[in-house]
Formats: sequence, structure tokens, C-alpha cells
Amino acid sequence: MVNPNHKLEIKPLKAFIFDLDGVIVDTAKYHFTAWKRIGEKVGFTLSHEQNESLKGVSRVESLERILGWAGVQLSAEEKEALLIEKNEDYLQQIDAMGREEILPGVLELLQFAQENNIPVALGSASKNATRILEKLNITSYFNAIVDGNHVSKSKPDPEVFLKGAELLQQAPENCVVFEDAAAGIAAAKAAGMTTIGMGGADEVKTADHCFDAMDQITTAFIRSL
Ligand code: BG6
Ligand code: MG
Repeated sequence: MVNPNHKLEIKPLKAFIFDLDGVIVDTAKYHFTAWKRIGEKVGFTLSHEQNESLKGVSRVESLERILGWAGVQLSAEEKEALLIEKNEDYLQQIDAMGREEILPGVLELLQFAQENNIPVALGSASKNATRILEKLNITSYFNAIVDGNHVSKSKPDPEVFLKGAELLQQAPENCVVFEDAAAGIAAAKAAGMTTIGMGGADEVKTADHCFDAMDQITTAFIRSL
């Protein structure tokens, strides 16, 4: 028998903020190939470990770090030329990419959010984010988009996620961030949000919850957050 004096407490579902590269789609490998080529131009071989630490980091900051590792100093014009070259290389690779490169479980989670009126934002460092979402035909799942064109500070600064929460009109503690980068997990933590680490990198294991892939995330887990 249901006790009429006892109100059933239904916990509201938290808002979702998704990183893009390496979370929604495996573009991380294209960034790596493009940066590796730029590294080679300045006589430097970019390692997997170094590349891992560039995840979530803006284009300009990534180049600065690569030049630092290479011990190479360039003029502002030379740097600008390398940034353009890197992006042209990257865009050529992503333009050949198809919907099949959306990572497993992503579409299902976006659909679950839509069906359950969960607010969804993108929180990405990439200046190419809207182009990629359009290419994958998933823009309509997002209530708000914050990308590299809208922020002045790179992850691990929380700016990108705080802006996302603000656009969704959600308190930071009511947001869950899906991230594959150490810098992104640190940014989401600094924003006071729940963190879900995607992928196997050690640094990502500091997240509140970790999954190898999004198809391992159950609706029961989402409801428990
Ligand atoms: C992040 C990637 O999402 O975006 C980084 O993890 C990348 O590797 C950064 O450097 C900026 O991307 P873009 O598309 O603006 O060069
Ligand atoms: Mg990422």
C-alpha cells in the first residue's frame, strides 16, 4: 500500500556537457597525425605520451608546447603559418570522416537525453566543433555549444564548462561532464561538476567515474548520478 503521507522523491537528472574530440568522435587520432607532421617540420618526433598531454589543449597552446619540447623558437609569422598548415591538414582528414566514426554508445546517450528532456551542451576546445557536429549530423541534440571560439582560457581552466552550464541555465553541481583528457577532467572538477572519464589514459582515471566507452554507460547509472 502506498502511504499518502510519504512523498516519493524523484531525483532530477543532471545536465550533460560533452567534450567533442575523443568523446563523441575519434578525431584525436587526426589531431595526432597533423601535429606529428608539424613536429617533423621542426625536426621533432611527437610521442604518444606527449600527444596525450595535448588533448583538450587549444591549437595555439599545443603548438607552443611542441615548440618548447623541440627547443625551437619561431617568429609570430612562422607560428601562424604552422597553425594554418596544421588545421588544413586536420580539416582534410575530418572532411573524409563519416557518421560511422561516432563512438559507440554516443548516439544512444544523446537520444536518451532528448527523450528525457536532459539539457545537453558541448564543451570543446576546438574551433572546428560546429563543423564536425554538422558533418556528423548531430547538431540538433545540443541545446548549447561552447567551443574554442567562445573561450579565452584553455582547459584545465573551467571557463568552457561554466559557460556551458550558464547557457543551459544549470548550476555547475547539476552538470555531468564527459571527458577523455586530463586537462578536461581538471577543468570540470574546477567547475565543481561531476566528471566521467572516457578511455584508458591514466590521468583520466582521476574522474569521479570511468568508462572505456560510452556504450558501457547504462541508463540506471545515469539515473544514479
Ligand atoms: C581539443 C583537442 O578538443 O581541441 C585538442 O583535444 C585540439 O587536441 C583542440 O588541439 C583544438 O582543436 P582545433 O580543432 O581548434 O584545432
Ligand atoms: Mg577530448
